[in-house]
Amino acid sequence: MIRRHLINFNLDEIEKRNCDVVIVGTGIGGLYTALNLNDKYRIFLLTKDKIGENNSNLAQGGIAACMGKEDDLKLHIEDTLKAGSYYNDRDAVKMLVEEASENIENLIQIGTKFDRDIKGNLMVTKEGGHSRRRVLHSKDQTGKEIMRALIEEVIKRDNIEIIEDSFAVDILTDGDKSIGILMEYGGVRYALIAKAVVLATGGIGQVYTNTTNSAVATGDGIAMAYRAGVKLRDMEFIQFHPTAFYSKEDRKRFLISEAVRGEGAVLKNSKGDAFMKKYHSLSDLAPRDIVAKAILTEMEMENKPKVYLDITHRNEGFIKNRFPYIYNECLSRGVDMTREYIPVCPVQHYIMGGIKTDYNGRTNIHGLYACGETASLGVHGANRLASNSLLEAIVFGKRVAKDINKNVILQNISDLKFKPGENIREIKDDFKEIKARINKVMGKYVFIFRSENGLNRALRILKKIGEDAHKSRKESRGYYECINMLTVAYLIVDSALKRQESLGSHIMVDSLEVDCFD
Ligand code: SIN
Repeated sequence: MIRRHLINFNLDEIEKRNCDVVIVGTGIGGLYTALNLNDKYRIFLLTKDKIGENNSNLAQGGIAACMGKEDDLKLHIEDTLKAGSYYNDRDAVKMLVEEASENIENLIQIGTKFDRDIKGNLMVTKEGGHSRRRVLHSKDQTGKEIMRALIEEVIKRDNIEIIEDSFAVDILTDGDKSIGILMEYGGVRYALIAKAVVLATGGIGQVYTNTTNSAVATGDGIAMAYRAGVKLRDMEFIQFHPTAFYSKEDRKRFLISEAVRGEGAVLKNSKGDAFMKKYHSLSDLAPRDIVAKAILTEMEMENKPKVYLDITHRNEGFIKNRFPYIYNECLSRGVDMTREYIPVCPVQHYIMGGIKTDYNGRTNIHGLYACGETASLGVHGANRLASNSLLEAIVFGKRVAKDINKNVILQNISDLKFKPGENIREIKDDFKEIKARINKVMGKYVFIFRSENGLNRALRILKKIGEDAHKSRKESRGYYECINMLTVAYLIVDSALKRQESLGSHIMVDSLEVDCFD
């Protein structure tokens, strides 16, 4: 039984702070929304860690956009639909693709530096599922570069107060209206009263043992929305990135960008055979769900926990210049990618489902918005096209901001400060053992291949874990995250059980034979 709030509290007795808009999450969705809001609004921008600690910052490959190439619009739409198994909301896809250029121009205006050729033209690459080169990039750390530019801009704005190391515990509601956020900061509890609340809390990767996601991706926004009665959708659609660096020890897997395949890398099995041609006409650049499934099939056939990525045929200078970050990270793990194959395996990467919104980020709770990975308006369908996620964050983040600008009347706001207190970061490692149990269930029964029996078993185990977590209940960040993760895990399994047929990233099989991650 999921409680309405994670903690007991009396609203009359907690400290209050008023603002116009609260944004939870400082990834690209949260920051870009903040920058597009009326600069007269007083905005609280919350992050439970440091401003740059999130999935956006880790995004390598790039951001897809036709950049004024009219003839490419139709193709980008078609590629997005095809990758999503045509389960996408077509109008949302049209908006995503057609509003891409103006928002990218805006990012450039703000200071983002995408790679350019010697003539100054934007350089573009290809990734899985793209029929043309249309992915803009900043070497192999595109997310980090966009974040750098956005953070520099947000810091300049007097109307935006960034509150790092703060934990948004729950959404405060009055009937079907959101009235703000219950937050803990430095050991003090606050009610942030706001006309509009935007959830931009990112992904859910920590629910799985093996993920490319940041440690902060515990699905907090989805879980708190669910507790507040917000509608969700498509929680069963989890994207597994085909190529994370394989190592026995690493829990957080290092991503090897799909752009590496976009520049010619080939997937090979342990015998050195290139296998993707067997599975799809686009070979190594097939959509992600197909490549991940093919890799897992090869791994199962060979009874091996990994396959290999080979880019050794490309010039050493090119590799080092195009992928400096990946090159160095591989080297630090003992692999020189200019000469050796990179060991890779599929891991959790993204969730297509989440908080159900309309095209302006509105949820069914008045005044509550969502954008970025935590939101779901159906744009990605059953499997996201590569490099459409950063694009979604800016296109729909802008739409959220526009809707708020139109509807929220400026308040007369007091300027009370937040009191510094003890640092709650110190207790975030609580509940490690219970979190590990959630990871194990999800990795075993709710990975790429799923079966009805396995999902039912997962549900039973999660219920038991929930009872145990409840017994050790306490008011700490570790506990809040643990309950949020459990809630998200439960929602994924529940949705997966309701979709009996395979579609996109949700692949149902009769029984689960092999678990490569045990
Ligand atoms: C990648 O660089 O392969 C990831 C990009 C994405 O998730 O779209």
